[in-house]
Amino acid sequence: MKIGIDKIGFATSHLYVDMAELAMARNEEPNKYLIGLGQQKMAVIPPSQDIVTMACTAAEKILTSEDKNKIGLVVFGTESGIDNSKSAAMYLVDLLGLQENLRAFEIKQACYGATAGIAMARGYLDLHPDKKVLVIGADIARYGLKTSGEATQGGGAIALLMSSDPAILALEPKTAYYARNVMDFWRPLGHTEALVEGKYSAKIYLDFFKRVYLNYLQQTNLSLGDFSAFIFHLPYTKMGLKALRTIISDTEPEIADNLKEQFEASREYNRNVGNLYTGSLYLSLLSLLQNSSSLTAGQRIGLFSYGSGAQGEFFTGILQDSFEDFVNNDHVSTMLAKRHQVSVTDYEHIYRQSLKNKDELIIDYKSDRAPFVLTGIKNSQRQYLRQ
Ligand code: CAA
Repeated sequence: MKIGIDKIGFATSHLYVDMAELAMARNEEPNKYLIGLGQQKMAVIPPSQDIVTMACTAAEKILTSEDKNKIGLVVFGTESGIDNSKSAAMYLVDLLGLQENLRAFEIKQACYGATAGIAMARGYLDLHPDKKVLVIGADIARYGLKTSGEATQGGGAIALLMSSDPAILALEPKTAYYARNVMDFWRPLGHTEALVEGKYSAKIYLDFFKRVYLNYLQQTNLSLGDFSAFIFHLPYTKMGLKALRTIISDTEPEIADNLKEQFEASREYNRNVGNLYTGSLYLSLLSLLQNSSSLTAGQRIGLFSYGSGAQGEFFTGILQDSFEDFVNNDHVSTMLAKRHQVSVTDYEHIYRQSLKNKDELIIDYKSDRAPFVLTGIKNSQRQYLRQ
């Protein structure tokens, strides 16, 4: 039986800041952000959006009422939780109008959360092939204004509908994973912004990639030539390029050029949104599917998931016959092009506003036309609206 990704939905805010402008405001060379980090635009998340609203928007784009009735499991991967106890999945189940005979919960291991959700979905669908699973990866990446991590912020949500008859990508059974206690990136209780050992985190990322990739090759007897594309968790898109370079440096030019070309397609959306944390790898998958001109059904894609702290996993999927229908159906680039640019000063203002966590709060959401918005906090309860 096949198990895999049937549909992918994506949502981010309607606002962004231009990375060249941000660089100049921070007395940096624009090319440091544009080329050195590989980032062009960064999503700016207003107070009217959070992980729940963006996740609902992403999911609503792909779910039919038949899908909703078949969902038996909702796994919400995030590291930007809005409550210490209640899971973001409960708000989502209600706002989307899912049937209530299901399991719904939140899961955390830094940027690995959605991949952990996929692992659970595999087990669940194996037992319940007639059901579907909704896996969410939704986050707002915050390091703080004028920090070295600032240029690698961003935010958004990915919704993956997993099924036993996947239209896009059938996951292959073998996977390679590696976990070790590392202090490369963390966010202690009470902190609204992440703490990070930036250069060390990049080193650990590459180390984990090497380990799980080699482990996977050993398990399967596959080699580089068996892959048509590699996609990566992309905290900033240069990070994935660095990882790709480690495996193509001594291969034939034709294979290396093809993999580099696919990588360019796979980083297009991420370079214009920024870090999504849990959703980044899957935004990159969406970007590959919608921007590559040379993918065909039957090809194998390698996926590297990394969550600081740290967990790495390398797994693979085979493109299904109907993946092109999906590719032609969604227009993320149009959506991204319609966003409004904000100045660096406005971005800083919005950023500071979004850190407020009060028991009572009224949010001015009128300029936000997203289908789901956060309107405020009343008696310490978040108030959501479907508009
Ligand atoms: N033109 C072109 N390139 C330039 C340039 C210019 N004018 N000026 C600088 N650069 C290049 C540098 O050479 C460097 O490239 P390499 O990494 O290939 O050497 C790149 O721009 C960045 O320069 P610096 O390393 O000097 O930048 P920095 O010290 O300001 O910080 C960072 C970069 C460490 C990534 C920082 O942004 C950070 O801490 N980010 C958050 C942590 C992170 O994203 N870690 C990734 C792995 S952890 C993970 O994946 C989990 C997660 O999601 C957080």
